[in-house]
Amino acid sequence: MSLNSAIEELREQFDRDIQNVRNGGVDTEQIRVKYLGRKGLVAGLFSGMGNIPAADRPAAGQALNALKTYLAEELNKLQRDFSAGKEDVPADLDYTLPGDPFPKGSIHPITQIMEEIKDIFHHLGFSVAYGPEIDTDFYNFEALNFPPNHPARDMQDTFYSGDAVLRTHTSNTQIHHMMDSDPPVKILAPGRVFRHEDISVRSYCLFHQVEGLFVDKTVTMANLKGDLDYFARSLFGKAVKTRFRPSFFPFTEPSAEMDVSCIFCGGKGCNICKYAGWLEILGCGMVDPEVFKSVKYDPSVWQGYAFGMGVERIAMLKFGVEDIRLFFEGDVRFLRQF
Ligand code: PHE
Repeated sequence: MSLNSAIEELREQFDRDIQNVRNGGVDTEQIRVKYLGRKGLVAGLFSGMGNIPAADRPAAGQALNALKTYLAEELNKLQRDFSAGKEDVPADLDYTLPGDPFPKGSIHPITQIMEEIKDIFHHLGFSVAYGPEIDTDFYNFEALNFPPNHPARDMQDTFYSGDAVLRTHTSNTQIHHMMDSDPPVKILAPGRVFRHEDISVRSYCLFHQVEGLFVDKTVTMANLKGDLDYFARSLFGKAVKTRFRPSFFPFTEPSAEMDVSCIFCGGKGCNICKYAGWLEILGCGMVDPEVFKSVKYDPSVWQGYAFGMGVERIAMLKFGVEDIRLFFEGDVRFLRQF
């Protein structure tokens, strides 16, 4: 091998070693000894000078010196880089100590269930609409066919302040939406609602609802039953059965409540379904023509279904939570479990 290719090879090997040091492999001093030490690789090349014809020696000497300079400079550079990085690291820093804990947050169980419900209805073509939490009597009651002093207002104990009401259901969103846009309509109205109720294991002064409204020319009770049955099976599992019982709401006619077969005992009867085998999940019905009149939709052309459910109730069933107040206390020991 010629001296030149020996020099070239050594330089390449050196560059690889340097990279190794930068990656944290070996330390710089080891490399210096290996190449530039008294018995190092460069000294080895110098000692071969004797075998070179006298005429070529000056050029060979120059090439070797250039190699030596290159190696020395690179090693110095490396050393500088390393000591620069070390300046701001205290000498007594113990890298093995555990770091400060950085707890991860999680999505609130109510938000999780709301997302799940929205996702299921998204598959049925519903988009999401939002309405105000503070509203007027018109949007929360009157347009929904609750005349003044109608006893049905007692179903929803209301927080009033002058003309303002805290909405008692998200049905107000549906009125806003219908007044702002022409039919057909297919919306989901999720959000917070407020009721002036005694606080207990089962009820709280605020909770969350998801309501739905589908208005088109040929919407029937069969669509309502089919869609809500699909919803129940998507949320609680394929084995779940649904049943519809007649009920009353001022804004729907006919009205119904939907039950699902108890998700704990499969319908046999247990203490959670109070041995009925069924759990009440939501209210629903066909939109009352009076509601269409108040939003200026022609009730002889348009028909629709509506439904509404309490998110806390569903979350309590799905997660086996027995006290509704836990959802509002912000206790991380509770929230961490979801
Ligand atoms: N708004 C009703 C409630 O809050 C729920 C509902 C919505 C019932 C739509 C029927 C149709 O109780």
